[in-house]
Amino acid sequence: MAKLLEGKVAIITGAGAGIGREHALYFAREGAKVVVNDLGGDRHGGGRGGEAADKTVADIKAAGGEAVANYDSVATREGADGILWSALAKYGRVDILVNNAGILRDRTIVNMSDQDLNVVLDVHLKGTFFCMQAVARQMKVQGAGGRIVNTTSLSGLIGNFGQGNYGAAKGGIYSLTRIAALEFAKMRVTVNAVAPVAVTRMTEDLPMMAGVSTADLGPQFISPVAAFLASDLAADLTGQIVGVQGRKVFQYRMEETDGVTRDDGMWTPAELKERWAEISR
Ligand code: NAI
Repeated sequence: MAKLLEGKVAIITGAGAGIGREHALYFAREGAKVVVNDLGGDRHGGGRGGEAADKTVADIKAAGGEAVANYDSVATREGADGILWSALAKYGRVDILVNNAGILRDRTIVNMSDQDLNVVLDVHLKGTFFCMQAVARQMKVQGAGGRIVNTTSLSGLIGNFGQGNYGAAKGGIYSLTRIAALEFAKMRVTVNAVAPVAVTRMTEDLPMMAGVSTADLGPQFISPVAAFLASDLAADLTGQIVGVQGRKVFQYRMEETDGVTRDDGMWTPAELKERWAEISR
């Protein structure tokens, strides 16, 4: 039986650790040729090195798969172009992009430095934008459609204390996913996002992860969902946000309530206060 991603060329960013590494191993097992991007920094975005990406590539090859390493940062246009170039130089095309690279620099808004704001926005929001833009331009030239899977977070979709920088970036990725889905439809490029929860180096010391094992909430649970969205099985899905928490898979949706409409005139603040229960129902 043909494998799910047989012959597809997939770029996976941040694939040297955590969820991205699981994606890379899973996609390669399913027949994809994988560009394993990772700049090899710590979880706050400090340092860099090639070992993380090299290790993922070595593990894919040891299992009989096909992969090439790339060490560029997603956070700059030059880095995104370099990642695309790795795919084109080695495999001559790109069919799938998984935007997964990420860092955390948690601070409350009152205590946030400009640097902690900018670095997190650069890696997540601009990184997703730059990689999507570079790859979508290439997919347009190729003319054969494609799949983009972004990575958002409940922090951006619902909100989380102390993550004003990260949540804003992840909320922006939600918006980018919705807009790119509309803009790329005529190119037959679908754009969806996963919103994972998993025990990784990024989350292992959070109070909510205390006592939780990777057997129940490991990064390996996210990859089949990403592979589904990256495959021909999901040709009719775009602009969707799929939550994955261990064995639970669900959909996030932005809702508009029915609201209340006046027959004439304008609302006064006092009336809005009085009718708030109906407006928000
Ligand atoms: P991780 O820290 O284990 O892995 C992230 C990888 O991205 C690292 O290997 C790192 O070197 C790489 N990376 C960081 N900045 C990069 C850059 N500028 N260019 C290229 N690579 C870069 O983290 P984890 O948990 O695997 O996170 C993966 C994605 O999932 C992130 O986007 C994260 O925000 C998101 N996410 C994770 C959640 C979780 O519960 N673990 C929850 C919600 C979202």
